[in-house]
Amino acid sequence: MTNSAKTPVAVLISGRGSNMGSILDACESPDFPVRVGIVISDNPKAEGLKVAKENGVDTLVVKRSDYSSKAEFEEVIDKAIRETGAKLICLAGFMALLSEDFVNGWHNQIINIHPSLLPAFKGLEAHQQAIDAGVRFTGCTVHIVRPEMDAGPIIIQAVVPVTKNDTADSLASRILHYEHVLYPEALRLLITGEAEIKGEKTIINNGRWQKTGHVNPAPLI
Ligand code: GRF
Repeated sequence: MTNSAKTPVAVLISGRGSNMGSILDACESPDFPVRVGIVISDNPKAEGLKVAKENGVDTLVVKRSDYSSKAEFEEVIDKAIRETGAKLICLAGFMALLSEDFVNGWHNQIINIHPSLLPAFKGLEAHQQAIDAGVRFTGCTVHIVRPEMDAGPIIIQAVVPVTKNDTADSLASRILHYEHVLYPEALRLLITGEAEIKGEKTIINNGRWQKTGHVNPAPLI
């Protein structure tokens, strides 16, 4: 598939941008039906901006403090994304909570990755929450965004064990490995139509992970 035949998406980041990096890596493959049209950060110091630029992707910094209202801030983001023709917005460590208006304006077209098996451990410090709760398994989730934080139809999840001596950092790095597999796969499922949003659930019509049982995608790594 040529680059121009691929579906453009936008990626919103606030920091390191390793999930954005995993999407950009997947886009290198001619079989991957997606290209990143723009990377937007609300933080001018986000390390991910450098990576995006190195990959030749257009970047934009939109700082909340430069606007007197959240509506104006979101209007700038919305306009920049629409100009690229993006069909989906991928939140990848984007730390600002988007308003109900913005989310409803992109109904079923905004996706997010969260480092827990939602609906468990929403919000900040999901890894520490899992350790404190004493769960044996946690993981990560890619889901459609709803106005409520970390809510919306689940596209895919990966299960990751919590070990006896885990700290929030050791658990985070084990989970991150799977996040980087999940995010491009969720995008592929949505763009190809293999995943369909029906109300508050996602129906998977096909997909290679389906063959592998309850951990999805299969632990290839
Ligand atoms: C990831 O753990 C993601 O699940 C969460 O924020 C973190 C972002 O990391 N939403 P990165 O910026 O993609 O490296």
